[in-house]
Amino acid sequence: MLTSAASPRRHWGHPVPPGHRAMLSRGPALLLCLLLLLLPEVAGEDRAESWWDRAGAPTVKKVGKGLKDRVNAVTALSKKYWAYFARQVWPQDCDEEKEAASKPLGWTLPLLGQRYLGILSNWYCHFKECCDRDDCRIINNITGLEIDLSTRLHGQHLVREVVLKSVKGFLSVPQPEKPLALSFHGWSGTGKNFVARMLADHLYRDGLESECVQVFISMLHFPHLKYVDIYKEKLMEQVSDTVRRCGQALFVFDEAEKLPPSLLETLKPLLDHYDTIKEVDYRRAIFLFLSNLGGNTINEVVLSWLRAGRSREEITMEDLEPYLQADILKSTDSNFGHSGLVKENLMDFFVPFLPLEYHHVKLCARDAFLGRDLEYTEEALDKVAKMMVYVPKEEKLFSAQGCKSISQRINLFLP
Ligand SMILES: *[C@@H]1O[C@H](CO)[C@@H](O)[C@H](O)[C@H]1NC(C)=O
Repeated sequence: MLTSAASPRRHWGHPVPPGHRAMLSRGPALLLCLLLLLLPEVAGEDRAESWWDRAGAPTVKKVGKGLKDRVNAVTALSKKYWAYFARQVWPQDCDEEKEAASKPLGWTLPLLGQRYLGILSNWYCHFKECCDRDDCRIINNITGLEIDLSTRLHGQHLVREVVLKSVKGFLSVPQPEKPLALSFHGWSGTGKNFVARMLADHLYRDGLESECVQVFISMLHFPHLKYVDIYKEKLMEQVSDTVRRCGQALFVFDEAEKLPPSLLETLKPLLDHYDTIKEVDYRRAIFLFLSNLGGNTINEVVLSWLRAGRSREEITMEDLEPYLQADILKSTDSNFGHSGLVKENLMDFFVPFLPLEYHHVKLCARDAFLGRDLEYTEEALDKVAKMMVYVPKEEKLFSAQGCKSISQRINLFLP
């Protein structure tokens, strides 16, 4: 399979003199693209679904899907792939299109749908620097990220600082030594997913829907230990295909504490300082690992800080990170801390998400009203905030669910 994947590229891999291009018609290339879109294998991809909408559709179930399902999926996806090609192909014309169109079957059959995309985009990128410079899929709006982190993320001064600095620094280097790996820690509802989504939104034109972004949720994508070998293969394939198509790719691993040990080891080389692994260069990719590991430790530090009468905003990374890291390393109910990823220092930062207090929950409620263009009163915000459970029992300082489901909760206060 790999041999046949390589041959068309070798065959076409030489640039065409600019003068030739204009004379040739676009027709054959369009035909070729349409043909590719209709191939059944393309239906195996599920990246068009968004992160939250994926519930109940584990990837493994796709094996053995009926023809009808495939056709439906192709119809739904083809628009997206078409748009992708149109961006890359338009208005490029060249000699090789004719050749490609005249013998599509010779090389198409043994390949997986996703590989076509890789091959074709590599091919077009020989003529047009579409994958590295001025890539229209990548926006890297650091200003937007900064604004969002400071106005819509509440109570997380450390996250704001660490995420912004590390991402900004990473993106400013043309050739980083290793991929950026950030490990987000904290209780649920403190904003880990929210920040991951912000990154997707501000770095990629299509946000989480971007073909450069992949989200993996442990319990959804890797639920059964007995299939771990299949998961491993599929994960490697998806990650390498995504990076091949899109050098600055973003991978989000939600519920990272539940990742099986062998998957963690599979990921390890990708996050290390290698120039290439099987001809793929991962060093411009960004990996996020989201987990609740260390959440209790973070909360204890914040609690002792508040009990001592100090403000939470005075807490620095130096105050928190050593405790957090020690806690992650010694955690016994998860493999994450014992994985090579953590032990061999491949994580660039452990980012602590602090527990949220009553006034943060009110801010989340305010955002939820504003986000839906609704009027709100101070009283309504208080009512929403009072619906949450606060811990510990004595002081009732921290919302046990953070700002989780606030947007659903405000429904109760609508007329
Ligand atoms: C970056 O994001 C900000 C805030 O969302 C927006 O106002 C601005 O237009 C964006 N800039 C670019 C270049 O897209």
